[in-house]
Amino acid sequence: MDKLAIQGGVALSGEIAVSGAKNAALPILCAALLTTGTLEFSNLPRLRDVATLLKLLAQMGVRIGAEEGDRQTLDASGLNNPIAPYDLVKTMRASILVLGPLLARHGEAKVSLPGGCAIGARPVDQHIKGLQAMGAEIAVEQGYIHARAKRLKGARICTDMVTVTGTENLMMAASLAEGETIIENAAREPEVVDLANCLVSMGARVSGAGTDIIRVQGVEKLRGAAHAIMPDRIETGTYLCAAAATGGKVRLLNTSAAYLDTVVDKLMDAGCDIRLTRDSITLNAPPRLKSVSLRTAPYPAFPTDMQAQFMAINAVADGVATIRETIFENRFMHVAELQRLGADIQIEGNNAIVRGVANLQGATVMATDLRASASLVVAALAAQGETVIDRIYHLDRGYENMEAKLANLGAKARRQA
Ligand code: UD1
Repeated sequence: MDKLAIQGGVALSGEIAVSGAKNAALPILCAALLTTGTLEFSNLPRLRDVATLLKLLAQMGVRIGAEEGDRQTLDASGLNNPIAPYDLVKTMRASILVLGPLLARHGEAKVSLPGGCAIGARPVDQHIKGLQAMGAEIAVEQGYIHARAKRLKGARICTDMVTVTGTENLMMAASLAEGETIIENAAREPEVVDLANCLVSMGARVSGAGTDIIRVQGVEKLRGAAHAIMPDRIETGTYLCAAAATGGKVRLLNTSAAYLDTVVDKLMDAGCDIRLTRDSITLNAPPRLKSVSLRTAPYPAFPTDMQAQFMAINAVADGVATIRETIFENRFMHVAELQRLGADIQIEGNNAIVRGVANLQGATVMATDLRASASLVVAALAAQGETVIDRIYHLDRGYENMEAKLANLGAKARRQA
């Protein structure tokens, strides 16, 4: 299994371009299932999760066009096998996003239950409840969600909690349903808005995306369209943290601070100077950061996907920070690994108390999930000596060309087979 060896202690400097957003790309690729027309995507990140989803869609009969850099066409006119098997779903929970579109267009779907996950139980009951409210018959048998519906009917749905992929699944299903669907307590994440924009280009009638009430007037058919995937706000935030932790100065291009208010605010609280243009962010870090406390919550509050990276910067900051995780019950897997590097962190329920130390020391650590791995990279870059991060396939799921991007910023990072 691949490892990443990082020689720490180098202040990052230079500029890199941010890739398209993984969490926007995954639902938007699934939207191709809703039409016989051709979808043309650009700014598509070449990630392991994207490759997994393309493989899954191909198995269903979707024609995947030739890979042309960040461009990709999908044509689901030949859709004939509405099944998402366990061996693919278990590697990527977001595969559940095929459920709504398959059911709406094909009338039937069989999708494996995602199963356990390193960062918590993560059930899909809200996806199921919403589709049932739209008239779907759903049975859970032998580890599969088996859903059927002649034509889904518009409904008023209020999810028990804010769920990002749940909102996306229901919005896609509703776009081909008969009548109006109202999704209350909808996720307001920018990736939900990006999906809604793509659906609208396909002829869907969606309004309210970005607020907690989304209305969808179902239409009979959707058409092909072209769509550029939004920049990845979590990749952006991760490189900002890496620069901050190393006392560096970096400029990130092809991105926007528009969706990163809370993250940018926290980095400024930590003492960083941040300059913004419409499509770039420049961060200049002080020699030593100040600790910043935070609490994760659904957008527009601080994103849970940035919690681990901020744990790493607090580990080397001056002061004591409290980090409260409210979305996932088991999202402190990185703590034990950060402690191996010398971090002083105490966990109390869903709070982590981080006492900044002057220096971290390189060690061998293990990546446990995608964002935990990112926090280990940030910590390793700031640490003295060499850190070897094992199981970096987690990083490949969500960070495009990470070694190349780090190298462009002057970091000493190399992949070991
Ligand atoms: C998405 C993101 C992930 C991010 C998360 C929270 C994608 C592909 N992934 O994941 O990177 O960390 O949002 O911002 O976009 N829940 C239920 N029942 C459900 C659905 C969710 O109990 O049916 C719970 C989850 O266990 C969790 C919370 O709701 O505690 C939020 O989960 P959700 O927003 O659904 O996360 P994902 O969409 O899986």
